[in-house]
Amino acid sequence: MELKNQPILVIGAGIMGAGIVQVAAQSGHTVLLFDQKVGAAEQAIENIKKTFSSLIKKEKLTEDAAQSTLSKIQTISSLAQASHVQLVIEAIIEKLDIKRSLFKELETIVSQDCILATNTSSISVTAIANGLQHPNRLVGMHFFNPVPLMKLVEVVSGLQTSSEVASSIFDLSIHWGKTPVHAKSTPGFIVNRIARPFYAEALALIQEQVSSIQVIDSCIKSVGFRMGPFELMDLIGHDTNFAVTSSVFEAFFYDRRFTPSIVQKELVDGGLLGRKSGHGFYDYSEGAVTPKLPEFHPSPLNKSKAMIIHGDNHLTEYFGSQLQKLGVSFSQEKQSSWVGLDVNGYHLRQTDGQTASSLGSHVAVFDVCLHPQEKTIIAWASAQNASTEWLQEAPSWLYHLGFIPIRIQDSPALIVARTLAMLINEACDAVTQGVCSMDATNQAMKLGVNYPAGPFEWLEKWRSTQVVQIIDQLDLNYKGERYRSSPLLEKLNLL
Ligand code: NAI
Repeated sequence: MELKNQPILVIGAGIMGAGIVQVAAQSGHTVLLFDQKVGAAEQAIENIKKTFSSLIKKEKLTEDAAQSTLSKIQTISSLAQASHVQLVIEAIIEKLDIKRSLFKELETIVSQDCILATNTSSISVTAIANGLQHPNRLVGMHFFNPVPLMKLVEVVSGLQTSSEVASSIFDLSIHWGKTPVHAKSTPGFIVNRIARPFYAEALALIQEQVSSIQVIDSCIKSVGFRMGPFELMDLIGHDTNFAVTSSVFEAFFYDRRFTPSIVQKELVDGGLLGRKSGHGFYDYSEGAVTPKLPEFHPSPLNKSKAMIIHGDNHLTEYFGSQLQKLGVSFSQEKQSSWVGLDVNGYHLRQTDGQTASSLGSHVAVFDVCLHPQEKTIIAWASAQNASTEWLQEAPSWLYHLGFIPIRIQDSPALIVARTLAMLINEACDAVTQGVCSMDATNQAMKLGVNYPAGPFEWLEKWRSTQVVQIIDQLDLNYKGERYRSSPLLEKLNLL
């Protein structure tokens, strides 16, 4: 059904409902707004007016456009006043029974061809449709907060959602200037599911005392993420983030992969919810000082060492050009089983998941770097019995190659490799299970949570063999059910 310019009803005038109303009216729809709480709908319109005033001041919106949009929005005090609409978007409290009974009531009010959409972020669309006379017209239209700014819409189909209904919502989202992606109704849909390891791996690292929150955040940001996992959890709020993780964990029948963290639960229990409470992983109180990253003082460059570059990829190319710039001569072993530098028999290896300790005292491992460039912060680790000379020399070479090396505890797959591998793996699993396509996954992660690239774009830089190796090593180290490589990753591995 063509929904452009059709009248719309939005139910729920909270943070999401208000945003949806604004976007719909700005796209030319007449929008009715209903909230069961007296005055809430009117308050939402007041808030939209305030937003518009500040946009007018910044010359990002004209007075005329603001007036024209506002004239299209109307509050209603009874759902019966919306019998003529062609689309209802529900953005009320996140409770299955309340959403279900609302949609049942709506079926007695609107016409048979009116599409019913839910903005639920965690409830099964199939479950919400259960009991409706026409469950095929119920679809998920999952916006991201703040709605006017976030481009992504997950168009979620339940078991009974008709493909025409999903297509209509997909097309409408494009008309609203959004980027929609199709998703199957499964726990967390696309973004809230695939993003779980971003938090989970960081929380596991901190629980194991591998490094500090500042170091972990800095390493993750240095590969292009706008925020580190601890900064982001503090921003989202630990109560919300923990609740999403717990609901995905429960919905997947307690699959160990989604196990919530006791580190985060402690914060929630203590009311240390992040920015909104003034304290989470970081302290947001006035005058609070964030500890600086550890400083490293390199040894002077020694050009007389026998250098061999091992492996053949974007990183070894970078190593080669940096060594040339430094005037250090080297040879290459392109067919080597590992990637990195041999310095007079000592090995500086890019992590493949094995710990430095398991490789020997002459080895140091460093983190994965998909786009090597100068000033990239990179984590490295060595065996416990490494010599003092090697502990100074290994990071000095990383430094001379242009990186900012930071030592962390020896642990499998360090920080970036472990996080990216698990994000890619989760994305592969979602695709394997028909939740979404590879393209949809890339779009969703870039637009829904601002990732610098999509999981399958990382895979173009990083071979699936290496990702499988990392996950296998994590599994070997942790011996649980958490680290299992996805069938799709295994399949790509064979190509
Ligand atoms: P909110 O708490 O800001 O607003 C909910 C509004 O719904 C309130 O004004 C409340 O009075 C009203 N309401 C509750 N029950 C109602 C009923 N039976 N009939 C009419 N109005 C009712 O909530 P928020 O954050 O806007 O979330 C709304 C929905 O959007 C939830 O399903 C949530 O999971 C989903 N969502 C939230 C996101 C977020 O970042 N806050 C992101 C994406 C989806």
